[in-house]
Amino acid sequence: MEDRYGHRISYLRVSITDRCNERCTYCMPRELQEWLPREDVLTYEETLRLIRISAELGVSKVRITGGEPLTRRDVLSFFQQLPSIPGIDDIGISTNGTLLARPTSTRQSMAAELRAAGVNSVNISLDTLDREAYAATTGRDFLSQVLEGIDAAIAAKFPLIKLNCVLMRGRNDDQFIPLVEFAAEQNLMLRFIELMPVSHSDVLDEGNFLSAGEARRRLESHYGPLIPEPTFRTNGPSSYYKVPGRDQRLGFIGAMTNLHFCESCNKLRLTCDGKLRPCLGSYLEFDIMKVLRAGATDAELRQFFLDVVERKPEQHDFRENYQPGRMMVAIGG
Ligand SMILES: C[S@@+](CC[C@H](N)C(=O)[O-])C[C@H]1O[C@@H](n2cnc3c(N)ncnc32)[C@H](O)[C@@H]1O
Ligand code: SF4
Repeated sequence: MEDRYGHRISYLRVSITDRCNERCTYCMPRELQEWLPREDVLTYEETLRLIRISAELGVSKVRITGGEPLTRRDVLSFFQQLPSIPGIDDIGISTNGTLLARPTSTRQSMAAELRAAGVNSVNISLDTLDREAYAATTGRDFLSQVLEGIDAAIAAKFPLIKLNCVLMRGRNDDQFIPLVEFAAEQNLMLRFIELMPVSHSDVLDEGNFLSAGEARRRLESHYGPLIPEPTFRTNGPSSYYKVPGRDQRLGFIGAMTNLHFCESCNKLRLTCDGKLRPCLGSYLEFDIMKVLRAGATDAELRQFFLDVVERKPEQHDFRENYQPGRMMVAIGG
């Protein structure tokens, strides 16, 4: 699948739930959340069918997200079916990490079961190592569970584990160096992500915004000039740098300030309520659940995917349109 601007779509990010056991300020409002009724969420069978169709059109990588994907019932049975889809050779999960260490029915950790199911890449959100700041940002006092989850992921030997830290002025900007040191000790890749305007929340005030460039400069005043690695890529829009004198790589995701951010975009998103979104930072979305439930054939669904890709914008409109719309928790970041 290729769009009008030459973006080749090989990556489908799939949200399997809008529910979450945390309440991050930048992702969902703190007031009581109304979850989607179950019948408005794609079943596993429907989701697997759509992933298969996308794979027939060239998608080779899927990342499962949410909400918190590990809160959905029978999630392991879903993961276990992914590797048998022809063409899918790279399976990832984005998680807040709180449930990775939890024992499953076989008394293994969730992380070990996911690895055994064929998941090869895990992104774990970690904005701070300070327990109080963690609770203030996520609405839950779960830092110790997340740290246990990270240990469980390391023990499960995933080929790639990334820590993702959202940059927030005044909330976690004292944590950048502790996080770099933690990632170095654990031998994990750390990425810093600019706050994006996708939720109704006071944290999205421009005063909280801290650019990837500023985060880099702050780190450089401690570590010395970071060494750019323009050729290193992990299938996403991160720019990578090495910490001088170390074999440690840091990523910076400048969705708001990097004007070339969208050039290499290879992504399409499927929301848990069955909408295909050609771009995270645009209001465009197309209801594939409706046609699927109306009895569409595989050929019709393939055409639907191609039509959505045809409408993929050249770039996101966050910069012109700093108007929070749908919550990240529903889109699947
Ligand atoms: C929506 S979460 C879903 C997966 C999982 N619950 C988690 O927290 O990793 C995926 C990623 O989106 C990020 N995210 C959520 N809201 C964001 C925002 N407004 N700006 C930037 N990143 C955001 C989170 O930090 C997380 O790394
Ligand atoms: S960022 Fe992840 S953990 Fe936080 S509220 Fe959103 S979905 Fe939940």
